[in-house]
Amino acid sequence: MTVKVLIGAQWGDEGKGKITDLLSNEADVVVRYQGGNNAGHTIVVEGEVFKLHMIPSGILYENVECVIGNGVVVSPAVLIGEIDKLKTKGYSVNNLKISNTAHVILPFHEMMDKQQESSRSEGTKIGTTSRGIGPAYTDKVSRRGVRVKDLLVKETLETLINGRNWTEILDVTQADVDKVIADYYAYGQIIKPYIIDSVNYLHEQYAQKKRILLEGAQGTMLDVDFGTYPFVTSSNPTAGGACTGSGLGPTMIREVIGVAKAYITRVGEGPFPTELTNETGEMLRTKGGEFGTTTGRPRRCGWLDGVILKYSVNVNSLTSLAITKLDILSGFKEIKICTAYEINGKKIDYLPTDAKELSLVKPIYQTFAGWEEDLTGIREYSALPANCKKYIKEIENIAGIPANIISIGNSRDKTIYRYV
Ligand code: GDP
Ligand code: IMO
Ligand code: MG
Repeated sequence: MTVKVLIGAQWGDEGKGKITDLLSNEADVVVRYQGGNNAGHTIVVEGEVFKLHMIPSGILYENVECVIGNGVVVSPAVLIGEIDKLKTKGYSVNNLKISNTAHVILPFHEMMDKQQESSRSEGTKIGTTSRGIGPAYTDKVSRRGVRVKDLLVKETLETLINGRNWTEILDVTQADVDKVIADYYAYGQIIKPYIIDSVNYLHEQYAQKKRILLEGAQGTMLDVDFGTYPFVTSSNPTAGGACTGSGLGPTMIREVIGVAKAYITRVGEGPFPTELTNETGEMLRTKGGEFGTTTGRPRRCGWLDGVILKYSVNVNSLTSLAITKLDILSGFKEIKICTAYEINGKKIDYLPTDAKELSLVKPIYQTFAGWEEDLTGIREYSALPANCKKYIKEIENIAGIPANIISIGNSRDKTIYRYV
């Protein structure tokens, strides 16, 4: 009877897809609890690359039930496309389940997202993924959203979609609106076999002592409450979101695993204290292949930020870490970790939660000697280069929790397990 939560400890793209896929081997149920197709989770199995935007990263295990939880915003077209792609690759997808109360992203939400972004002036742009995430969640909290179950009742769907005067707020005609209603009703019919009452289902699974893994999307620093607001997403990727986005309560959760890259990246706008806009940053981007899974945008790169890591441990109650992409750091002469910030001549060791203040801090670094060895063939912790072990040890010291998983390549096998 274990419930584990896996979250991104930074600004997303930490390698949650890979680690969720690994942990799915020891799970009965995997649940996405927030976000939508702004997420891009990559899994590599025997050279084949899977990029999942809507479907939980446990889907490649036929005996693992995969649930899109109530806290997710669903793009039916993207979801159906993903189901079809997986089927083409030989996966049945019979293990997929979709919450009846998850909210639905409409094409109008996407249009609004793009329109809002283009009307923002320089310095206030968020750099969203333009997938309609913000507007869809806005409609949810405004209590006028369309839920997955509404796709199944034509009259309800018509009433909800027509209730929004889209023709007045967007450059669309009533014929466009009617087409969306027809398309979405048709999507509903396609996904109908997967739709369930996820809250009751998850409680049944829990009662039957099933092992449940809750998979976060985005990351702590993109959380609408705990991230660099307003340069954030519109949901709660942090551990609290796992409860509200699934219906499982906080005392059921036994472990919270934070996935952290061995350095740090960010896509989109907003403060980033350890960003490297020099050759070193370029080297991290090139070696790490740091281009967005969803939008293809170059990711901003920088040294690991220990202040953010500690903050992430705190706001998520992290119990252990999975450190990813350590292999990318081979060949750097020096590697740095930010251990504190300086602001107005004062040293601080906590994260200012105000984005403006965070944009003014200067990182204070601890420097480590690098290593030359290629790590991708190593499977035992003891075989890692001494300097690499020192680096991991310091990350554990800062976080105050063990790094139980060390990832040294994108595929399943390139992983070192510790303390297990
Ligand atoms: P997610 O959004 O957190 O699931 O992460 P993404 O899939 O967007 O980005 C992580 C990228 O790094 C993907 O291309 C992964 O295949 C890749 N990756 C994950 N772990 C490792 C690792 O340990 N080493 C290397 N080289 N690549 C990794
Ligand atoms: P995964 O799950 C990295 C970023 C966007 C933008 C901000 C708001 O793959 O880690 P949104 O479209 O959500 O309104 O955009 O959040 N963002 C991500 N960055 N990884 C993600 O997901 C992201 N999802 C959203 O770039 O800065
Ligand atoms: Mg990603």
